[in-house]
Amino acid sequence: MPKVTFVQFSGSSRTIDVPTGWTLMEAAVQNGVDGITAECGGGCACATCHVLVPAEWADKVPAIRPSENDLLECTAVPRTPQSRLSCQIQVSDALDGLTVNLPERQS
Ligand code: FES
Repeated sequence: MPKVTFVQFSGSSRTIDVPTGWTLMEAAVQNGVDGITAECGGGCACATCHVLVPAEWADKVPAIRPSENDLLECTAVPRTPQSRLSCQIQVSDALDGLTVNLPERQS
């Protein structure tokens, strides 16, 4: 099962075993990771599941679709080149070892 690490803005972190097919958002919420609000439940409609994916993982995560790209303009903390919505990233074995950083806030 792929392991994914969530790093809080404070620097603390949690590593979670994520079933393949789950999204990063689902993994965070189901495991009580702070900092992922996910108000819309994964519908790509709230931008409160914002995470930062390190550049070295950019080619391994699923590509950004237009709806995610548009919504990334609505994040509470300004978008960066590493910004993604965690509900749009489905975990596969290729993401084993992924570390994502959480922004300072989601709202
Ligand atoms: S959970 Fe709402 S956009 Fe991701």
